[in-house]
Amino acid sequence: MAFQNAIGTTVQGGSFYDVGGHQFNIGPVIQVSNPDGVLIPKRAPLMKSCPSPTNLFTGRNDILLQLHQCFTPSPTSVESAEQRRFVLYGLGGGGKTQIALKFVKECQTETQPRRFSDVFFIDSSTAQTIDADLKSIARGKEIGETANDALIWLAGKRDDWLLLFDNADDISLNLSQFFPSCSHGNILITSRNYETLLHAPAFNCNIASLTPEDATNLLLGIVKQVTTDESRVLAECIVKELGHLALAVVQAGAYILMSGNLGGYLDIYKKRRTKLLQEYRRQRADNYKMDRIYNLADQLREA
Ligand SMILES: Nc1ncnc2c1ncn2[C@@H]1O[C@H](COP(=O)(O)OP(=O)(O)O)[C@@H](O)[C@H]1O
Ligand SMILES: [Mg+2]
Repeated sequence: MAFQNAIGTTVQGGSFYDVGGHQFNIGPVIQVSNPDGVLIPKRAPLMKSCPSPTNLFTGRNDILLQLHQCFTPSPTSVESAEQRRFVLYGLGGGGKTQIALKFVKECQTETQPRRFSDVFFIDSSTAQTIDADLKSIARGKEIGETANDALIWLAGKRDDWLLLFDNADDISLNLSQFFPSCSHGNILITSRNYETLLHAPAFNCNIASLTPEDATNLLLGIVKQVTTDESRVLAECIVKELGHLALAVVQAGAYILMSGNLGGYLDIYKKRRTKLLQEYRRQRADNYKMDRIYNLADQLREA
């Protein structure tokens, strides 16, 4: 059925396999033309796109400014003499990934022209995930199949690309083996591992708590209650107890949103603190999912 309209279509390139008298192409296609010889634009394989930051993104203006300063080419230099690199490091759940995603959004969609020619998001949890994401660049750009093909292409392409190595937390991982060997391009790393600072000794930032004001605004933004003086004071006390840690504030917010109990949260939190902290440590893995928040909220409700 799917090939009914393809009669007379010519495909060049790729690897053809004969199955029951029908030819199937499973390799990269160079060119496709219809029966009249008109070239049909070929759809490139899907490449992983950079995720968007949370809609609740709050604060961090000072750190975003540092990132913009690091990655903005100086108007006087025609070309940067070396690769620009920045490391966001610190505690899990502190908000490193979110800052990186917000920075990319500001550069690529909120300003014109786009700051980077391409942004490539690399899940850097393990050498395997990095390899897989580099391979996806090679295939997406149709310049090869392997991670090394992607690195060679990036090194040769004198564009102003950004590689975002996210969650490079594994201390046994030698991240620099995945940097394109060239003096151009931009690299942003997020990591819990302090040793990654070595990749950018002059351009890095320890991501810790939100400011008390941003943490309070984040909590109030999640719970969606009409903000009164009283609710603000309650929210300030709650986020202080949580050390103004972004992930903990979001967790608390999700619970309060469902229970509607802003006033009672601190009592419940203190009663269940040990269990909550254990749960928090378990959950601070990245790619944090809302269903986990709901699980946590259920547990609290049973308390
Ligand atoms: N600036 C922020 N504004 C709103 N929510 C945030 C912010 N930073 C982090 N969060 C929340 O905290 C969670 C954990 O943040 P994340 O960036 O993944 O931490 P890290 O990368 O440091 O482990 C996010 O999924 C998001 O819900
Ligand atoms: Mg992260």
